[in-house]
Amino acid sequence: MNFPKANSFPQSTMRERSMGPNPLKLCEELLAYGAIPAGSAVLDLGSGAGLTSSLLAREYGFTVYAADLWSDPSDNMRFFETIGLTNRDIMPIKADATALPFATEFFDAVVSVDSYNYFGRDSEYLGTHLLSLVKHGGELLFAIPGMVRDCHDDLPACLLESWTREQLSYMHDVDWWHANIEQTDGVDILGMCEMACTREAWTDWITCDNEYARGDRAAVEAGALDYLNTIAVRLRRR
Ligand SMILES: C[S@@+](CC[C@H](N)C(=O)[O-])C[C@H]1O[C@@H](n2cnc3c(N)ncnc32)[C@H](O)[C@@H]1O
Repeated sequence: MNFPKANSFPQSTMRERSMGPNPLKLCEELLAYGAIPAGSAVLDLGSGAGLTSSLLAREYGFTVYAADLWSDPSDNMRFFETIGLTNRDIMPIKADATALPFATEFFDAVVSVDSYNYFGRDSEYLGTHLLSLVKHGGELLFAIPGMVRDCHDDLPACLLESWTREQLSYMHDVDWWHANIEQTDGVDILGMCEMACTREAWTDWITCDNEYARGDRAAVEAGALDYLNTIAVRLRRR
């Protein structure tokens, strides 16, 4: 695939700040599935070290709220400044996805890359904690690490090379996510599909020089990507 926006970031930046499969490429492909209007206020939920947030602000011109639980908002702000973004473009916030400190109907859209499976597996999450923060008609776009087909009862050995059963329990297939989300009132599922860039995004990730990427290499090299995918979810608040 062609990723002009993702590839506008230096490889060194992607490698230093990624926390999983290349989030810049996942985010660019995800945005192509949706229709977030120019000038939107966008919540980047589970924004990690800020790569996707900076892509959304710098390359799409959105006003971005980068909300994340584990990362340091000050570290993220210093990174945003190094690439020319200011506090008018992007706001890093330390926040738990289950207690987001925003007004109802504040956001025009939500984007979440490689994070929704941490908190969204609870089928009540979307309706209880997130949907009300989005304007009616606003889109929610998620790129969720998933499985081609749920296989938790008979996990392939290659997956267990790098991950525990507990870690793998965060991954599910399209049908599982559809059944999870369709329980929420007030939202239309506009689409769910496997993303095309999964292998490329994983290849970028496992060549990163950090302990997590090194840890994931064994499974990928043993064939894990025959069983794993990334699921794009496009929702609209009614
Ligand atoms: C695999 S990282 C992905 C980060 C980033 N989106 C990226 O692709 O580089 C998962 C992120 O989910 C965030 N996360 C997990 N549970 C969360 C929660 N309850 N509330 C907010 N963020 C959460 C973590 O802080 C972490 O940064």
